[in-house]
Amino acid sequence: MKDHKDSNLKFWDSIVEEHVQSDFYDVPGFLKGKTSLDSLELELVGDVSGRTLLHLQCHFGLSTLSWVRLGAIATGVDFSPAAISAANELSKKSGLHARFIESNIYNISSNLDEKYDIVFASYGVLCWLPDLTNWAKEIEQCMKPGGRFHLVEYHPLMNTLDSGSGNDVVLKNSYFNEGVEIFESEGSYANPESPIKNSTYEWSHSIGEVITALLEAGLHIDNFAEYPYATDGSWISYLRKSDDGKWRVPDHKWGVPLTFSLSASKK
Ligand SMILES: C[S@@+](CC[C@H](N)C(=O)[O-])C[C@H]1O[C@@H](n2cnc3c(N)ncnc32)[C@H](O)[C@@H]1O
Repeated sequence: MKDHKDSNLKFWDSIVEEHVQSDFYDVPGFLKGKTSLDSLELELVGDVSGRTLLHLQCHFGLSTLSWVRLGAIATGVDFSPAAISAANELSKKSGLHARFIESNIYNISSNLDEKYDIVFASYGVLCWLPDLTNWAKEIEQCMKPGGRFHLVEYHPLMNTLDSGSGNDVVLKNSYFNEGVEIFESEGSYANPESPIKNSTYEWSHSIGEVITALLEAGLHIDNFAEYPYATDGSWISYLRKSDDGKWRVPDHKWGVPLTFSLSASKK
């Protein structure tokens, strides 16, 4: 498992600078006042003003700082030193203050000295985690009593599908967690043209696995929803961008969930 983590960390460290420069993340737009948060997570999380917010797997802090702009007292955590350094740089440039902490998600509660009103994670976080049982326990440990965890994530079904002929999609691999999958590729979702070569280790977590882990950690699931679109899906071959900017399967007969959200609370 340590080799998997080290290899993934090497990938994330190597790609941060390209992501900061990418059109996908649009840092210049953010510096001019644009948020990186979609209406989906803004509505799910609600008013953050004056509330403490922990952003898990925060990458280089764009969404963490977008929450700060809305009044949150935010802490971002990521295991990549390059991401944390870029996040601190962005904090300085934007004049928005957040605390950024380098930590593996599995040690997070022991690296933090406070509990939070809100714990938040979004888009592309679960596939890097071998074990959701300990992930959920760590989240529960970071929450204040009465605190809430909000997750917005690509639906696990999205990665099981691939382009077929015409607008058809075909099943590519199992929906269920069959253990680690190894990917040898170049570039990333934010910059497919990048020459950076990488080996990554990823896991597919079914919805049942996510919900079971949170329930077993003692959290109460307050809401759960599935959506037939992805807020971004430029790297998914069978999706097309709709007029509203969301990514969908073009043929309506393929009514598949591409995103899900949930909120869970601690008594
Ligand atoms: C796809 S990015 C999240 C992107 C974020 N939603 C955004 O748009 O900025 C996934 C992040 O997870 C972090 N990560 C992966 N495995 C981790 C781990 N075990 N502990 C902490 N962070 C991890 C990576 O460094 C990366 O920044």
